[in-house]
Amino acid sequence: MGKGSSKCAGCWGWLLAFIVLAAVVLGIVLVIKNKNGGNDGPDAAPVPGPPGELTKSYADALKLAMQFFDIQKSGKLVDNKIPWRGDSALNDGSEEKLDLSKGMYDAGDHMKFMFPLAYTATVLSWSILEYGDQMKAAGQLGSAQNSLKWITDFLINAHPSANVLYIQVGDPKLDHKCWDRPEDMTAKRPLTKVDTSSPGSDVAAETAAAMAAASLVFKSSDSSYSSSLLKHATDLFTFADKHRALYSESIPAVQSFYNSTGYGDELLWAAGWLYHATGDKSYYDYVTGDNGEEFANWGSPTWFSWDNKLAGAQVLLSRVSFFGSKDISNKDVLQKYRSSAEAVMCGLLPKSPTATSSRTDGGLIWISDWNALQHPVGSAFLAVLYSDYMLSSRTPKITCNGRHFSPSDLRNFAKSQADYVLGDNPLKTSFLVGYGDKYSQFVHHRGASIPADATTGCQDGFKWLESEDPNPNIAYGALIGGPFLNETFIDSRNNSMQTEPSTYNSALIVGLLSGLVTTSSVVQSLGQ
Ligand SMILES: *[C@@H]1O[C@H](CO)[C@@H](O)[C@H](O)[C@H]1NC(C)=O
Ligand SMILES: *[C@@H]1O[C@H](CO)[C@@H](O)[C@H](O)[C@H]1NC(C)=O
Ligand SMILES: *[C@@H]1O[C@H](CO)[C@@H](O)[C@H](O)[C@H]1NC(C)=O
Repeated sequence: MGKGSSKCAGCWGWLLAFIVLAAVVLGIVLVIKNKNGGNDGPDAAPVPGPPGELTKSYADALKLAMQFFDIQKSGKLVDNKIPWRGDSALNDGSEEKLDLSKGMYDAGDHMKFMFPLAYTATVLSWSILEYGDQMKAAGQLGSAQNSLKWITDFLINAHPSANVLYIQVGDPKLDHKCWDRPEDMTAKRPLTKVDTSSPGSDVAAETAAAMAAASLVFKSSDSSYSSSLLKHATDLFTFADKHRALYSESIPAVQSFYNSTGYGDELLWAAGWLYHATGDKSYYDYVTGDNGEEFANWGSPTWFSWDNKLAGAQVLLSRVSFFGSKDISNKDVLQKYRSSAEAVMCGLLPKSPTATSSRTDGGLIWISDWNALQHPVGSAFLAVLYSDYMLSSRTPKITCNGRHFSPSDLRNFAKSQADYVLGDNPLKTSFLVGYGDKYSQFVHHRGASIPADATTGCQDGFKWLESEDPNPNIAYGALIGGPFLNETFIDSRNNSMQTEPSTYNSALIVGLLSGLVTTSSVVQSLGQ
């Protein structure tokens, strides 16, 4: 029979084709559903789409981790859920007629250090922007936004004019002479600022990054707050860029706690965030022009931390490369950011030819005795982001010296770090306080170590530091310093290297857990 000579044959042909097509579509849907549901197998890679099923262990850990922000809140508390916390530091800023009462305490002490606090806000904003749907599925989105705003309210008040930013409340020398509850503080709380005569591009640019990123978070829910954040961010970035200096050179006293080793990373990071927040091509030109050449340190992997944001900036700018942009000039320079981010990823993957050897036997990335968990958790957060960028853009692999790795390889690395933190380690101990059966009982944290009804003050309060008893209050959700390279850990309150938590650790673990809590990937637009 000639072609089309029988109408019926044509009919059946189409019907058959339709049935085959339907079966294929159904098969794909089933595969996707399967991948979204079962997340234990090595092939359980997430696919773009709405959040999949929650993984209970990560959802529990995320809920817990979020609580530490409530423990760290300064100022007049609203809907306080921590029984042993109350109002504190209500007069912070009053000597300059500013309200600097909000914000968060840095760690186990009562300092408010802008450099790490702004970084906390940037990382928390990033986590919400990429994984807000996942946080929502875990019932944590409101809490994350609330904690972020508690910090950004402080950032706004700390920036009273274009070229002035208050970067510290309290004097660490005075603060560390006391062991008291924040509610009972009596030490003086002097203010430190950067301005045109004592500039600080690092701290000003990090604060600009935080405000630009947060402006995207609040864009749909509170547009006037979002615009205000963006105005502060652009002014601060201009100040940081025009008056280039290290804050720790302008104000040497800050070196003992949060010494900054460079400001180029913060300038690129801030410009990257401002580009995402505004879509303004001048910020794109900033990172892909001379400043990129000067500061980006192409191809050399670095560790993401409160001091160094280069790896974060590389991943953030890779986002533009993965998902495209209307300003896609200087493509070759954008590719350098992406290759640099890939070099970071290749260093993290344990089977990569360029894998870093900075690891414990138990597989934890390990860089420093002090606050050891900052680097593995920060690295794992970047890895889960990169893995999701690859999936969302249908990028099947990265290549590390000739060997290929998939998004699942990166995700598995990220999980390995999270699982280590949660107790899958040689000590079988969890470093997230309150998670699992075994965790630190002696967290280096003043508020947690002193009974809420104690009558001790600045000096006599040291008996609580020295006490042999476990903390009377549990600092739920604190991510403490963590193990030494030899995987030992001494649970002692005076061992601040290992048992002190920090607010920036919390932002990183919240980001990581939000990325792992369900099996779906990021959205392609950051809310513009
Ligand atoms: C702070 O960092 C600078 C630059 O890296 C360094 O020269 C200085 O010694 C550091 N200060 C302290 C107290 O560590
Ligand atoms: C483990 O490392 C720490 C810090 O370097 C060291 O003080 C301790 O003695 C080591 N412990 C063992 C058992 O090797
Ligand atoms: C902490 O205190 C214990 C006993 O109270 C002591 O043995 C240890 O050396 C102290 N550690 C530090 C780091 O001060």
